[in-house]
Formats: sequence, structure tokens, C-alpha cells
Amino acid sequence: MSFSARNVAMGSREEPKYPHQSKHTSKIYFIFILFLLIFTPRVDSSWWYIGALGARVICDNIPGLVNKQRQLCQGHPDLMQSIGEGAKEWIRECQHQFQYHRWNCSTLDRDHTVFGRVMLRSSREAAFVYAISSAGVVYAITRACSQGELKSCNCDGQKRGRSSDAEGSFDWGGCSDNINYGIKFAKAFVDAREKMMKDARALMNLHNNRCGRMAVKRFMKLECKCHGVSGSCSLRTCWLAMSDFRRTGDYLRKKYNTAVEVTMNQDGTGFKVADKNFKGNIKNELVYVENSPDYCLMDRTAGSLGTAGRVCNKSSRGTDGCEVMCCGRGYDTMRVKQVTKCECKFKWCCAVECSDCEDVVDVHTCKPHKRADWLDIT
Ligand SMILES: *[C@@H]1O[C@H](CO)[C@@H](O)[C@H](O)[C@H]1NC(C)=O
Ligand SMILES: *[C@@H]1O[C@H](CO)[C@@H](O)[C@H](O)[C@H]1NC(C)=O
Repeated sequence: MSFSARNVAMGSREEPKYPHQSKHTSKIYFIFILFLLIFTPRVDSSWWYIGALGARVICDNIPGLVNKQRQLCQGHPDLMQSIGEGAKEWIRECQHQFQYHRWNCSTLDRDHTVFGRVMLRSSREAAFVYAISSAGVVYAITRACSQGELKSCNCDGQKRGRSSDAEGSFDWGGCSDNINYGIKFAKAFVDAREKMMKDARALMNLHNNRCGRMAVKRFMKLECKCHGVSGSCSLRTCWLAMSDFRRTGDYLRKKYNTAVEVTMNQDGTGFKVADKNFKGNIKNELVYVENSPDYCLMDRTAGSLGTAGRVCNKSSRGTDGCEVMCCGRGYDTMRVKQVTKCECKFKWCCAVECSDCEDVVDVHTCKPHKRADWLDIT
């Protein structure tokens, strides 16, 4: 939307070509542009689109980067490469976490908003996407540091000498993941856009971005190697390593389920929890401002794809169940043949031989929305 506003703004540069235009017209034109700039919803974090650019990350061509992001991009092209590769991973993780959910984290091809208009709403889903995307940046950069792919960072240099844990003392060795560098860069790059705004949505994004970054740090683990005589663990060398990104994904998915609705303070400096009975701290909770749509029907303005044609599970009562997934519209059943390996035998030595078995399974898919009756009659 603000893309179109930019086109209009560019058009205004051509104004000198039409000197006969009255001042009055250009004034109206100016007000019109101002109106567009103020009232068009802003484009979503377009750095997400870096993942779709592959090896051709050219900072000037990434739509929607703010100045600070463009500068970081130009100063650290190698980091942008990692962020781009990381984007594919966190989007895949998001789709894994939501595969049995009405909203399934699907992306739009060649669309620089990546997730479409769903993200314009300050919903739980937006909270999750912001959190996992900034977690993804931390993860990708930290990993690239450890693999020696980046000029500006390395393994964590603080992890030197001796230390100890519950099992006794050990020597730091190997390469400890430099999570603090990853967090620092992710914060500078990802938060840059939100730092420019001072509205509820910006505060919400900043909060959820931080939750995402911390979610990666939470699952750092100590890995050790034993060097004692005959494999005893009297001498240990250890390093800090990030866990698989799946753990961050699982954690944030749980946080999605318990996300907290907030409203902005009157002075605009922070939030308060909408539920007056809420006890506890929202520091480590995802927060959202608006309720989610039900995502049942195709709705272009809301960016909802609807659930027509989605596969559902007839015997489940959860979000993947046909009841919930199809929003009560019912489902179609198809019998499909499935080939699986079966009757496997162990053959001396050392092979397993199986035969192919054909099963017939029922696949259920959600019915489309019934058209209004008058459409059927005509
Ligand atoms: C997500 O849902 C849409 C329709 O609602 C479907 O077209 C798409 O294939 C789904 N994507 C995945 C990854 O399941
Ligand atoms: C469908 O749901 C049931 C109950 O939750 C579960 O046991 C079963 O494995 C699911 N089937 C498939 C194909 O996912």
C-alpha cells in the first residue's frame, strides 16, 4: 500500500513538466499525498523478503528497508547473506508449527510483504511471526559466526580458561557460539524499523522481537568432551552451543498459545495487560493488541486464505480436526492408495528387505464455503 504512495510521490517530481497547472491543483495534490502517507497501512517488515532474494542480496533492491537497515546491509553484506538463508529456515519452522492450524504461516510468491495482509493486524499471529523472525536472525548470525563465515565476528572469546558446572570443573575449549553478537546485531537490524514509530504496534513488535531473541539464548547448552584416562571424565573440555532451532520454534509456539492481550498506556510509553485479573510478568510473554480473525473464509482485505481444501483429521478434536479446521462447513472424503514398506525381513548380513504394500486411506479435505443461495438458483 505504501508502495503505491511512493509511486504517487515519484509522480509529483514530474510536476515541472506541467507548469500550466494551477497552484491550487498542486496543493490539493500535496494534501492527497499527505493523506495517502498517513492513512495507508505501512508495509510489513520487508527485510523478511531477503530470504527470497537468494544470493542476489543487493541492499538498494530490498523493498522497505529503513535507512539504518540499509546502512547495516551495505556495511555487512556477508551478514545479509546469513539473514537471507536464515529467513528460509524460520519461515519453514513457522510453517511446521502451524501446519495443523487454520492460519498456516503460508507465504505469497514474489510478494515483498511475504505473508500478505494478515500481518497488518496486530494479532497473535503477527506476534509469533515477529518473534520467530528475530529469533531466526539471532540463530543464523550466531551460527555463521561459529562457522567462520563472517568478517565481523568469531567464536565467543570470553569463554577461555577454567570454569565449572554442577558436575565439576572444566576447561573452555572448542568454539562457543557467540550468541551475544547474534543478539546485538539482530536487535540493531530488526528493531531499526520499529524504533522509528511510536505507536502501539511498534511497541508490540519491539516486545515480541525481544522475546524471540531471548528464546534462542534460553536454549544454549553446554557440550563437553571427556579426556580422562580410559575415557573417564576427569578432564573435560566444554563449549556453549545453541540447541536445534526446533526448540525455539516449540517454545515460541507455546508462547503463542498463552499470548497476552495488551493495550497501550495513556502516555504512549508502554502497555498494560487488558485482563485486569492477569497476574505475573509479561516480560517473557508474546503480546498482541487485536483479536485474530477466524481465518475460516477467503478474505482478501484481511489476507486470509480460508480453509477450503485443507486436509483435516476426522478423529481429532484439536485444531487439525475437521470440526475446527473446516469451521463447521463439513468435509469431502477421498480414498487414496498409499504405498508403504512392509513385511520387512532381516537378511544375514546386513540388509533389510521389505515388500511394497498398498493401503487405502481416507483423506478428508474441507469443503468450500457455500455460495449465497441466489447464486445457486441462477
Ligand atoms: C496453507 O493453507 C493454504 C490454504 O489455506 C494452502 O493453500 C497451503 O497449501 C497451506 N500450506 C501449507 C504449507 O500447508
Ligand atoms: C488424527 O488424530 C488422532 C487423534 O488426535 C491421532 O491419534 C491420529 O494419529 C491422527 N491421524 C493423523 C493421520 O494425523
